[in-house]
Amino acid sequence: MRDLGSIADGAMLIEDDRISRVGGRAEIEAMIVSEDIVVDAGGRVVMPGFVDAHTHPVFAGNRASEFERRIAGASYAEIAASGGGIRSTVRETRATTEDQLLTAAQRYASWFHSGGTTTIEAKSGYGLTIEDECKLLRVIRRIENLRCVPTFLGAHEIPDEYRGRASAYADLVIHQMLPQVARERLAEYCDVFCEPGIFSIEESRRVLSTARALGLGLRIHADQLSDAGGATLAAELHANTADHLEHTTAHGILALRSAGVQPVLLPGSVYALGMARYPNAREMIEAGLAVVLATDFNPGSSPTTSMPMILSLACTQMKMTPAEAITASTRNAACSLGRGHEIGSLEPGQQADFAIHDCSDYREIAYFFGAPQVEAVYLGGQPVWTRLKQSS
Ligand code: NIG
Ligand code: FE
Repeated sequence: MRDLGSIADGAMLIEDDRISRVGGRAEIEAMIVSEDIVVDAGGRVVMPGFVDAHTHPVFAGNRASEFERRIAGASYAEIAASGGGIRSTVRETRATTEDQLLTAAQRYASWFHSGGTTTIEAKSGYGLTIEDECKLLRVIRRIENLRCVPTFLGAHEIPDEYRGRASAYADLVIHQMLPQVARERLAEYCDVFCEPGIFSIEESRRVLSTARALGLGLRIHADQLSDAGGATLAAELHANTADHLEHTTAHGILALRSAGVQPVLLPGSVYALGMARYPNAREMIEAGLAVVLATDFNPGSSPTTSMPMILSLACTQMKMTPAEAITASTRNAACSLGRGHEIGSLEPGQQADFAIHDCSDYREIAYFFGAPQVEAVYLGGQPVWTRLKQSS
């Protein structure tokens, strides 16, 4: 993870939407023909676009009022138990049309660009009825200029009408939602919020086994608020990823390692919830796990689309090196989505998805925090975002 294979004074040749050659600048410049378009990055860092492998980008409204309640002392779990949290976003999202949700999501897509992101994994989970979950997944399919990998998260919370009947709601997810999502090919992955008081290990196992049988890949919100066996379940099911893992201990890490499950770490949610317990990234990396970093962008626990901010947190709070953080948010993230052969690195044959960062040393991306450094973003060889130049 510490070897980025970067090329000093490098260049690349792009044909159509893919990279055809990568090398030293002189070597590549010698191949230019008159009809080529030349983009001069001016000696700046050119990196693969970030692959943000865990986001919840389709929702109505926001939860700035809960943010203020937490400052006054209420916890995320208390707010959720009292009817707020995910359920309050569900109420608002149900009352919002597909087109309105798309307008909001497209606005967030440009925020993702501004941080250098070109692909996101995008979860449903704020509908919690068949119709509303499908509505969210259709919005994900319609987002433009950002590659989106859709994940069905019908088991995100127990909706108001099923309070106290988690198992009955899990049955609805299993017998009605999942078959329809699979039939309409609306998602590639299935995720569950596995947490005591939300979905138990047993309910999570039922949902995920059904998803697996229907051909979906598996991701799990595991051990976020307590060490309740989420990582062990991910290992048992050979899930693609186990996400969060703030409370996972050595035993869980070992289980992930033996089962080949990739950890997806989300330091933005620890930070934004004002908590102190970050996942043990060092132990995971030392164990040989291909750690992934993601924003967890959502209106409750992690209202950020910024991968550079996540890199900063990974370095300062989890002691990852800048190079490890970049590998975790590009190459490893692409592999966790089954797309390592398409995106996540700048190599011949890969999609020409890249960002130009206004620095000459990649470590500056994690080092300078809170100020935008991305100059331009390209998706499949086409510019999709550029920083507005301010006159000074
Ligand atoms: O990953 N933990 C569950 N889901 C999200 C939070 C969603 C919300 O609060 O709206 C998470 O942190
Ligand atoms: Fe999440």
